[in-house]
Parts: sequence; C-alpha cells; structure tokens
Amino acid sequence: MTCDCAILHNAATETEKAGSREVIYASCNARTEVGAIAESLRHAGYSPCVIAVGASEAPAKGGVLGDLIGELKGLAPKFVFNLLEEIDGDCGMEMAAAGLLELMQIPFTGSDSFSLGLALRKYHAKLALDAAGVPVPRGVLCAPGDEDALSSSGGALRLPLIVKPVREDASLGVNSDSVCRRPEEVRRQVGYVHEVYRQEALVEEYIDGREFNVSVIGGTGPGDEAPEVLAIAEIDFSGMPEEEPKIVSYRAKWDEGSPMYRSTTPVCPAPLSRRQEGLIKEIAIQSYQVIGCRDYGRVDMRMDAEGSPYVLEVNPNPDLAPEAGFARAVRASGRTYQDVVLGICRAAMARGRLSGEDVLYAF
Ligand SMILES: Nc1ncnc2c1ncn2[C@@H]1O[C@H](COP(=O)(O)OP(=O)(O)O)[C@@H](O)[C@H]1O
Ligand SMILES: [Mg+2]
Repeated sequence: MTCDCAILHNAATETEKAGSREVIYASCNARTEVGAIAESLRHAGYSPCVIAVGASEAPAKGGVLGDLIGELKGLAPKFVFNLLEEIDGDCGMEMAAAGLLELMQIPFTGSDSFSLGLALRKYHAKLALDAAGVPVPRGVLCAPGDEDALSSSGGALRLPLIVKPVREDASLGVNSDSVCRRPEEVRRQVGYVHEVYRQEALVEEYIDGREFNVSVIGGTGPGDEAPEVLAIAEIDFSGMPEEEPKIVSYRAKWDEGSPMYRSTTPVCPAPLSRRQEGLIKEIAIQSYQVIGCRDYGRVDMRMDAEGSPYVLEVNPNPDLAPEAGFARAVRASGRTYQDVVLGICRAAMARGRLSGEDVLYAF
C-alpha cells in the first residue's frame, strides 16, 4: 500500500518495574488515539501508514532503530503524526525518536525533541518555569544515596509534601502514599521511588486544592499560530474515599474499577470566575511558551485555598484519544476533533516548507 504520511506510535508494553505498585491495567495499553488520528487523516484525503515502535514487534538485525530508519526511509512520508511516548517502557526515548525525525528532516507533528525532553525532566522544567516567573510548587530533588539532601534543603519545605519520580509520566510512581504528612513518610516514599524507579525523587510542597488541565494549541516557533487555550477542565475529586489523597494517582488514571478512577471525574469547561479563568489561561500560555511546546499540549495546575494557581507540569504530548481530556477540551471550545487534527498536520507541513527540506539525509 502506498501512503503519504505516517502515524508513529509506541507498541504497547507489558514491562512492569520490579516491586512497583503501579501495575499494568488494560486501559494503559489501549491506544485508541492511533485509530482516531488515522480516521481523521483518511477523512481529509490522506493515506496514512501506521508505524509501531518497540521490541515487542520483534526487531530485525539492526534493532528498533534500524527498523525504524528503514521503514521511514522506505515510506518517505510527507509528514509524521508523532504519537510516540516511550519505547519499551522507557519514556526517555520519546525525545530520541523526535530527534531521529529531526535528523532525517521529516516534518512531524507536536513538540520538538528539546521540549519533549525538557518537559519530561520535571525538576529542570520547574527551574525554567520558575525563572520565567511562572508559579510552581517549591521542591527539591533527592538522588539515590543522597537522602541527606532531604534534611538539609528539604527541611525548608512545608509539609505536607508529595513525592514523585522526576522523569516519568502517566502518574507512574504516584500512589496512595505519595502525599506525606510526616518526615518519616517522606523518607519512605523517596526510598520507594529510588528503589523501584531508579531515579531521583522530586519532593514538592503539596498544593491542597482544585486541579485543572489546560489544553493549548498553537506554537512558539516562526510561522506557528500563536498559542491559544481551548478550554479548562477541572478534576472533580468529590467522592474520593476519606483515607485517599485527592490526587490523580496511577490507579486514578488507569484502574477503571478503582474508587480513585471513579472519583477523578473531569468537568469541562471548569466552573471559574472570569478573573480565575483569565489568570489560569495566562499562566498556561506562558508555561507552554517557556517549555517551547508547539501544535498541542496540556498544562496541569492546582489552585491553593487562597486561589493562587501553581503549575505542576507541562505535557507536550498528551493523549489525543477521542475520549481523553484534550479531545474533550477541543469539543468544549466548539471545534471538531477532525479540524484540530488537520490544523496540527498543516502546522507540521508548514514547518517542513519553512525549513525547505524535501531531501532526506542518506540514511
Ligand atoms: N505539588 C503537587 N501538589 C498537589 N498535587 C500534586 C502535586 N504534584 C503532583 N500532584 C498530583 O499528582 C498527579 C500526577 O503528577 P504530575 O506531576 O502531573 O505527573 P504525571 O506526569 O505523572 O501526570 C497530579 O495530577 C496531581 O493530582
Ligand atoms: Mg500530569
């Protein structure tokens, strides 16, 4: 079959970290976004090919990379719709795959390798946001073997604290024990992150209050449309069992049978005063620009009891499945999924024309 564009995504992984409380649920692997994006592209007259990346696809001799380069070279797509978030459970590979597309000079949708990488490094992203004047929860980084850092710099933080792995997404490492009210709980949870996730723990002041997901479209580069907030969604935590923290933990995201899943219902658009809405939008766009996102993204925020918003993280590659938050925000803004998907493709192709590349490197 000939195709003129490609949808790149990661093959579903079944790898679970040893000792992890974050187990694989069926919904973690359901990638309904691939089918929905393919459908939108076909509807607009494109002929997309789908490329799944990951060892579960039994790589040939050159490994995953060899396979991918060969496939991209063979297809020579006009653009790639990039839905790849990790390779075989390693989310650090998200930026590497975008880097490969950059090297091969294939236009692709979504953020570039730099922004994908920066956003994933939550502590560095926080430093960048803070330096630009974006309000973020105060936090410290605690490396394995350096638990003393906690008593020195961590002592300046005000309890309760939340502990999470510094470079994961999808709420990996975020569970019922992540919100800590006593120093010994913080130490235990930092130990959990070190042992299971083998990376630094990010220890942050816990923002007790409302949570918002702010979906943004547009870009920050030359020729890109200015960023624009689609709609603000709020997570409704009412109904959360008394003993559970009001957070979007791993089980809240993926374990459809759990009480946490049932008590983290998105409400879009969120009920907000005009002033609150304006403030949240302004902070979301500023955050999106600081991380350098393009085409689409989602900024996660919490608001404390005084009504001050704080940015938790910027997601340059949120789930585009029709039932996920981004698509909900698209509809709440009066747009159609199809139109936004095509707008994203057009932006990628326009970037391709801007950089004038139609010649692939000799890979
Ligand atoms: N500083 C914080 N204060 C309050 N809740 C937080 C904080 N950091 C994270 N959370 C909770 O944990 C969830 C996951 O954290 P987040 O930083 O967004 O990681 P992920 O990339 O895994 O989504 C958030 O949606 C929120 O409910
Ligand atoms: Mg998040």
